[in-house]
Amino acid sequence: MSQTCDVVVLLSGTGSNLQALIDSTRTGDSPARIAAVISNRADAYGLQRARDAGIDTRFLDHKAFEGREAFDAAMIELIDAFNPKLVVLAGFMRILSAGFVRHYQGRLLNIHPSLLPKYKGLHTHQRALEAGDTEHGCSVHFVTEELDGGPLVVQAVIPVELQDSQQSLAQRVHSQEHLIYPMAVRWFAEGRLSLGEQGALLDGKLLAASGHLIRT
Ligand code: GRF
Repeated sequence: MSQTCDVVVLLSGTGSNLQALIDSTRTGDSPARIAAVISNRADAYGLQRARDAGIDTRFLDHKAFEGREAFDAAMIELIDAFNPKLVVLAGFMRILSAGFVRHYQGRLLNIHPSLLPKYKGLHTHQRALEAGDTEHGCSVHFVTEELDGGPLVVQAVIPVELQDSQQSLAQRVHSQEHLIYPMAVRWFAEGRLSLGEQGALLDGKLLAASGHLIRT
């Protein structure tokens, strides 16, 4: 088995993606190990999930800092104390400074609830419905300085049904997130996934611009 890959997860909310990661790293044969979960919100339910799983947690209040750079510098210090090989954003509701992103270049992943490059930012399900899209989904990508813009690793595509509401769509997309995020983290932990100059590489081969596609 490959060496252990320590992962730090950053979140601000419910943490259902964290839960999927916890469950997937508990299977016994995954080299990924969640070393810590850090939140900028003390009441994030994700912190409780981590505590329940016996994982170290930290809270860092962004409101206690003057400006993004100062908060991000403190975050870097906190994260690096755990010496992670990978940092995973799982609903971390902060825009990251360029310095933070550069510091973790090639070892920072994010999940976004749309088929990027469509619908960067918020309200993605509503926007997909309003546009009359027949397909929607979620994306895991390496983080770069462009918001929701880094090289794609994997996308899950689902059909939009005529009767779909924002809630029903969100729920089905969320279920797909819980499949593709653990998959991408596992690839990284196994040393199969990396960030090259031209984009994301899986097993040494450049992935398509859309990343690895999964259709349901
Ligand atoms: C997910 O929809 C993810 O795509 C986005 O934030 C949400 C986090 O959900 N980045 P949860 O807290 O993991 O349930």
